[in-house]
Amino acid sequence: MRIALLGAPGSGKGTQALMLQKRLGLIHISTGDIFRASVKSQSVLGEKAKTYMDQGELIPDPIVVELVIERLQKLDCQKGYILDGFPRTKTQAEALEDTEFGVEIVLCLDVPDEELVKRLTGRQTCLTCGHLYHMTSSAPKQAGVCDQCQGLLKIRDDDLPDVVKKRLEVYKRLTLPVVTFYREKKKLIDINGHQEIDQIFHEILQELTREQLK
Ligand code: AP5
Ligand code: MG
Repeated sequence: MRIALLGAPGSGKGTQALMLQKRLGLIHISTGDIFRASVKSQSVLGEKAKTYMDQGELIPDPIVVELVIERLQKLDCQKGYILDGFPRTKTQAEALEDTEFGVEIVLCLDVPDEELVKRLTGRQTCLTCGHLYHMTSSAPKQAGVCDQCQGLLKIRDDDLPDVVKKRLEVYKRLTLPVVTFYREKKKLIDINGHQEIDQIFHEILQELTREQLK
């Protein structure tokens, strides 16, 4: 199955993608995670990406498209994939559609803006395994330490209030057209992302089963 998760910053794409990866055994490709790893390793790509990410802007399409298409050509994606954070412009969506491994199902997580801001400003991520926490809704047992692997938890550089505001604005301007694009192609499934994490996951699995039975 070739799946893409769409939704605003903080809508739960990463949270659901990790759960789906475990359940379905598919490769999880998060462009945000790839760019954050490049920033950490101080690569040329990372240096370029950082200037955009810190301002809540998108990295230019040619860079992202080349990176993702190259990744999807690898053997481990032959069974399918879970894309998280790509495509997020119409140009990216069209480039993906032009390949022989275009997306089959697009899950769109819908969450009100006030809730998105609450989620992003309380998020913490494990530096070692990437597990996601929230200071109030899913806090770790010990502050600052991952329950799963004892790794250290970190607040993302782009979760500062001003950058969050910009990311939400960029989502509406550049990514909402992607929602329309896939809706017109009848590949889009709307998911109510304003529920408990497990309830959302349950809804997603139900929708995927329904699609497979078609
Ligand atoms: P990216 O890393 O993709 O960030 P994003 O789209 O802004 O989304 P987030 O990762 O912030 O949120 P999420 O939806 O994954 O939510 P999460 O599960 O973490 O991109 C970052 C940057 O990289 C971009 O700004 C851009 O610069 C660049 N970039 C990446 N891809 C690009 C592309 N294709 N083109 C160009 N540039 C690109 O959840 C958030 C929090 O809420 C967590 O604390 C979680 O525990 C909590 N939570 C989750 N679900 C629930 C729930 N149901 N109830 C309560 N809390 C919940
Ligand atoms: Mg994410």
